[in-house]
Amino acid sequence: MKRIFLTTCWLLLFASSFAQESLITSIGNRKALSLNGAWQYIVDPYETGFYDYRFKELKENNGDAYWNTDVQKNKTEKKEHGYIDKYTIQVPGAWNHQKPEFLYYEGTIWYKKSFDYHRENSNSNYYLYFGAVNYRADVYLNGKKLGMHIGGFTPFNFAIPDSLLKEKGNFLVVKVDNKRGADEVPTLNTDWWNYGGITRDVKVVEVPTGFIQDFVIQLKKPVPGAIPAVTPDAEGWVKSKNIKAGEIITINIPELKFKKQLAATGDITPINFKLPKIKLWSPEHPKLYHVSVSAGADVVDDQIGFRTIEAFGKQVLLNGKPIFMRGICIHGEIPQDVRRAVGPDDAKQLLNQARELGCNMVRLAHYPHDEAITRLADSLGILVWSEIPVYWTINFGSNAVLNKAKAQLQEMITRDHNRASIIIWSVGNETPISQTRTDFMHSLITKAKELDNTRMISAALEVNYASLKNVNVVDDPLGEFVDLVAFNEYLGWYGGLPDQCRKTSWSTPYNKPLFISETGGGAKGGFHADSLTRFSEEYQEWYFKEQVAMLKRMPDNFVGITPWVLNDFRSPKRNNPVYQEGWNRKGLYDDKGNKKKAFYIMQNYYNEMKTKTSK
Ligand code: GCU
Repeated sequence: MKRIFLTTCWLLLFASSFAQESLITSIGNRKALSLNGAWQYIVDPYETGFYDYRFKELKENNGDAYWNTDVQKNKTEKKEHGYIDKYTIQVPGAWNHQKPEFLYYEGTIWYKKSFDYHRENSNSNYYLYFGAVNYRADVYLNGKKLGMHIGGFTPFNFAIPDSLLKEKGNFLVVKVDNKRGADEVPTLNTDWWNYGGITRDVKVVEVPTGFIQDFVIQLKKPVPGAIPAVTPDAEGWVKSKNIKAGEIITINIPELKFKKQLAATGDITPINFKLPKIKLWSPEHPKLYHVSVSAGADVVDDQIGFRTIEAFGKQVLLNGKPIFMRGICIHGEIPQDVRRAVGPDDAKQLLNQARELGCNMVRLAHYPHDEAITRLADSLGILVWSEIPVYWTINFGSNAVLNKAKAQLQEMITRDHNRASIIIWSVGNETPISQTRTDFMHSLITKAKELDNTRMISAALEVNYASLKNVNVVDDPLGEFVDLVAFNEYLGWYGGLPDQCRKTSWSTPYNKPLFISETGGGAKGGFHADSLTRFSEEYQEWYFKEQVAMLKRMPDNFVGITPWVLNDFRSPKRNNPVYQEGWNRKGLYDDKGNKKKAFYIMQNYYNEMKTKTSK
């Protein structure tokens, strides 16, 4: 018993000593020095910077062997590593596409960036911010360990101790390890490329001593089925640091000539007020308002759209009106360059492709994507399903794994809780049914609702095939806890032929909206044959023709679909030497951005549905 107690204490101590500061949001609108660009690196597959030759952790266990920058102080020094310009890599960006030798690399790479920092204001505090590092990051500044973060697709930041930041010659070292693990999130087995590295922006963020760390302002969850009032209620909170109770927090929405002042009540100050008459955000009219929140010397700005979203009976209501979601699944990858998508240009490429298909919605699979795409979705009026990578066979029996999933869920929601486009938080994909798994996923759903009661919670479920002949039932026990019953089906690709759709109908015992979160078949772009030839464009076209005919017979709670997938994408699991060669070919666009024949089947269906549902 004592041993368990001591272990738990150690774990809590370890977690707390390396726990990163809770997230600072609206980073793009804050004063910051970008550390993007060329970093030097050391590839370290045996983690020599962490362990001695007996593979025992180095006494400092802070990689000090790898943080000091001098290649070799003198000719007698035995040094078997070092940073020089011959070995540089770009940040943001995974290593897999930057160096041919790193295409399949899974392990540790040490990154180093030297920078000067001129402090204009002696009353400022400084944080080191990472948009994402896949998968584990151990961060050192000027030889001091700032902390460690686990999770490949969500932002994190560490406070920089005041005395640590120098005017000249700061050196930042990050040990990045993208090894997959049985007790990680995701786990060992995924159908996407394990891009490793510092894959999103890195910044030194400067804030006043007393500052606004985060805030959320959303329309209050509506009375079920209600249309928002002309002057709707808004609610949320302001999270501040070193702002004393009683200090004034001001919320400004200039376009509305709206200004609200309230006294800080501690680190979290609840907000609850009526807005003046506003234009609601919707896909047709993606109206965003400049909102600024200030306290002390800090002012934080954001662009926020106000809308309500809810699952109501068999429908999904946006601003109190039923919507049909014409979606597509997207991986965070630019296939033409075989690299992770990051930044506004990549976001524009992917969302423009989706819009060309006729989409009003995207499912960002299977992990939180770069912030640029959710912000662009806000501006373009594209609805978003955002998801954490609780994918397939996660270790559902492990509390440590649950905590990792909860941490990623919290980081995903915290970063984007002001994004009007995001209407669904998804807690996972195709997780195999068991009581342990359902308890694990239910716990995530509960956590998500605690963090945000304004959006729908869902997960991509699997189907209980042939429970009744040709009626496929979506009766996953998790359906009891989600707002939207979403399922993946591959009738005609994984088993059977596409004409299986003709004799298939769908049902769910849950009186909730029903959503198809994946359906798709593979085709190598430009390969043409008869429709019975797998991997031909004609087979994929037939697949979607049969699917669309079936969609027209879905039950009355069918509210939308996100076919699998926008673009062909890299996967180490897809190795047919003629048709795949390391690519999953289910894209409606091929890896060069060419539309396949199936694209037009879905585009035609979406044009019909747009006309039919926009009355
Ligand atoms: C699964 C899974 C996807 C995968 C797809 C496929 O449903 O959710 O991540 O890529 O099917 O088999 O292509």
